[in-house]
Parts: sequence; structure tokens; C-alpha cells
Amino acid sequence: MKVLLIGSGGREHALATGLSADKSVTELHVAPGNPGIKEIAVLHPISISDNQAIVDLAKSLAVDLVVIGPEMPLVNGVADVLRAQGIAVFGPSKAAAQLEGSKHFAKGVMRDAGVPTAKSFTCENQKEIERALDTFGAPYVVKDDGLAAGKGVVVTEDREIALQHALSCKRVVIEEYLKGPEISLFGISDGKNILPMQPAQDFKRAYDHDDGPNTGGMGAYSPLPWAPTNIVEDTYTQVLAPMIAEMAARGTPFVGLLYAGLAVTDRGIRVIEFNARFGDPETQVLIPRLRTPLGQLLYKAATGNLIDSTLQWSDDSAVTVVLAANGYPADVKSGDEISNLNAVNGVTIFHAGTKDDGGLKSAGGRVLTVTGVGSDLTEARDKAYRTVSQIKLAGSFYRNDIALNASVAEKGN
Ligand code: AMP
Ligand code: GLY
Repeated sequence: MKVLLIGSGGREHALATGLSADKSVTELHVAPGNPGIKEIAVLHPISISDNQAIVDLAKSLAVDLVVIGPEMPLVNGVADVLRAQGIAVFGPSKAAAQLEGSKHFAKGVMRDAGVPTAKSFTCENQKEIERALDTFGAPYVVKDDGLAAGKGVVVTEDREIALQHALSCKRVVIEEYLKGPEISLFGISDGKNILPMQPAQDFKRAYDHDDGPNTGGMGAYSPLPWAPTNIVEDTYTQVLAPMIAEMAARGTPFVGLLYAGLAVTDRGIRVIEFNARFGDPETQVLIPRLRTPLGQLLYKAATGNLIDSTLQWSDDSAVTVVLAANGYPADVKSGDEISNLNAVNGVTIFHAGTKDDGGLKSAGGRVLTVTGVGSDLTEARDKAYRTVSQIKLAGSFYRNDIALNASVAEKGN
């Protein structure tokens, strides 16, 4: 099978690693890819926002499957254009990708599907905004309705900050604050069936102890020894299956990866958000643990054949630590030299924002993500940190506490 993967980040490097390990994948193409992915796939330098270029490439390579990594091309409708040409695609249509593209839309689907989530109001003017803020009280949760590259959500005790953020959005969702640890739980869907993956946890704040600004994610780990024992079954029954059924009933089936961001509250699980694609950096801990051949799995999903499929997982633990450029998540400088990439056994260095430019250079905020795999979280952490601490990139930083509490708790059990 020939596969074309779209994207260029750490998530795509992890997906490419999984695809290239599947013996049924005879050719792996990635567009545009990055220097890490170049080691295992053929790269094609096209823009991911150019639907026609993606279709032309898929046709000229005569691929059997296209896998879309990031949300932007999905929201742009590239999956529809590919399907119209008879090409199998892992990734939702433009209509189904609205689960990520519009918070208001996602709330409406959850309401109709009976999926537990925070109470919310969608507001379009100051009067509605102030009424919503005062209904819920502090802490205020204010979400830009549209895609905002991780900058759309403000959670604050300060009513004025909440109000100013809300006024800066064209349409805004204001919701009840959910208290409890967060979990990312993904489902792979063919439009009718959905297979839940194992849960992972992402660290969204830039600095240790959950300090600093929100980011795309500074690290992740899986499995979650502290999670409620039925978390996968409960998320399947209460969230994933009803969402897939509701999207199908609306005539806009969701084919691809449904990412449920959940809060585990004392009243049960509540959906914080949906994404329409694999999470980054959660993918960098899930793919190394997944034993099911990835190419065949995504092909079955893309062609409506997931019924009777199951997922196999290794018992290992995985921890990934993001190496970020100086200044991330604000503007960062690119073009700095990266050296000392020495992965020991059980460690994979995934490239995220790198480029080949007379040697390996930085080219983004999240530069590398380093995954360690071991028999428990402590071993996986040790491996990831041993490697990431040796990498040289001027001004770069990483969090020191990824999976720390969970590994301590696991040891105590
Ligand atoms: P999102 O982009 O929707 O994932 O939101 C970013 C982060 O804001 C989440 O990971 C949560 O930490 C926080 N957040 C979003 N919605 C809520 C909520 N209703 N209650 C508490 N925290 C939230
Ligand atoms: N890890 C958060 C995201 O992928 O959106």
C-alpha cells in the first residue's frame, strides 16, 4: 500500500514512524515533512494549505491512502476534494471537522447527542457576554469560537481580562469552569464505528508546576496509572460512540481521529474540547505503544471497515518531553544550530520544528519531542530526560516535571 501523509510536525514524525513500521506500507510519502521524517519517507515540498497541490500529488503518486495530520487542511476541506477523486482519506470532511473548527458547533452536537460537557452560552455582543460571565462567575472560561492556534481560550479569575478577551472575538463561547485532571482520549472512526485508544495526558502550560502561558503542549505520557479504571469504556459509551452516531445521523459522518479532551470531575467525565485530528504531543506517546499495524488500521477507517477491529497495546509506558525554542509560545527565533541528538535504546527523537540548512537548525517553537519507552513511567521518564538534557540548542528549554507526579504515585502503589 502507498501512503501519503500531510504535515510536518512531531505528530507527523510519530505517525510516519508507525506507518513505516507497518509491513503492508510499501511506500511512504510525506508532504512537506521535516528532516527527521526524511530518514523514513520520501518528502514533497508542497504547502498544506493548497488543496489542489495535495490532490495533484496524491494522484501523481497513485497513493492508496492519504492521512491528514493537522487541522488546517481538514477545516479547508481537503478531505472532501480527495474523496471526490475516489481517493481513500483518513481525516474528516470540512463539515465534520467543524467539531474542532467551531466550539459553538461542537456544543450543539454534544447537546443533541447527550454528551456531558460544561454548560455554556454562545455570545455575540457585550450584553450577552456580561450576562454569561456573571451567570457562571469566576474562574471565567472564555473561548474564541473559531480556530485560534491554541490562543483562543482564556481561563482567568479576572473579570476584566475575561471580558476583554471575549470582546476581541467575533463569536465567543463562555462556559462553566470544570474542576479536575485533564485526559486526552482519542477514537479512530470509520464514520459508523469508533475504536477508543488508550488515554494520555498532555502538559499545556509552558513551565514547571503548570506555570506560564498555554502552549500547544510541552509533554505527555501514557498510560495513566491514576485514571479511573473504566475511563476508556466510559468515554466510549458516554462520548465517542454518541458523537459518531450523531454526526452520521446529521449526514456528515466523522471519518478520522476524534480527539476528546476531557476533565475528570467529581461528577464524572466532561468534554472540554474536541479536535478532529491526532493530538500533539500525545501521538508521540501513543504510537510507540500501539502494536496494531497503523497503515492497515487507518486504511480500514478510511474505507468504512473498522467493524470487528480491535487495538493491541504494549504494556510499556511512554513519556515525551518537548524541547522548545527560546521565547516559545511567543515569537521565536529560527535558524539556530541543534546538536547532540543521541538517542539511547528505547528513546526516539521526533522532529517538530527543524530544518536542514547547512546542518540541522531550529525552525519553530516546538523543535523536538523526545519519547522514552520503559517498563514503567519512571524508566520512560529517565530515558527521555537523559536524552533531552544532552541536546544542544541555544536558549532552548523544556519542562522538568512531565509525568513526575504520576511516576511517583505509580511507585507508591
Ligand atoms: P482548549 O483549547 O479548549 O483545550 O482549552 C485550553 C485549556 O483551557 C484546556 O486544556 C483547559 O486546561 C482549559 N479549559 C478549557 N475549558 C475549560 C473549562 N470549561 N474548565 C476549566 N478549564 C478549561
Ligand atoms: N495536545 C493538544 C493538541 O493537540 O491540541
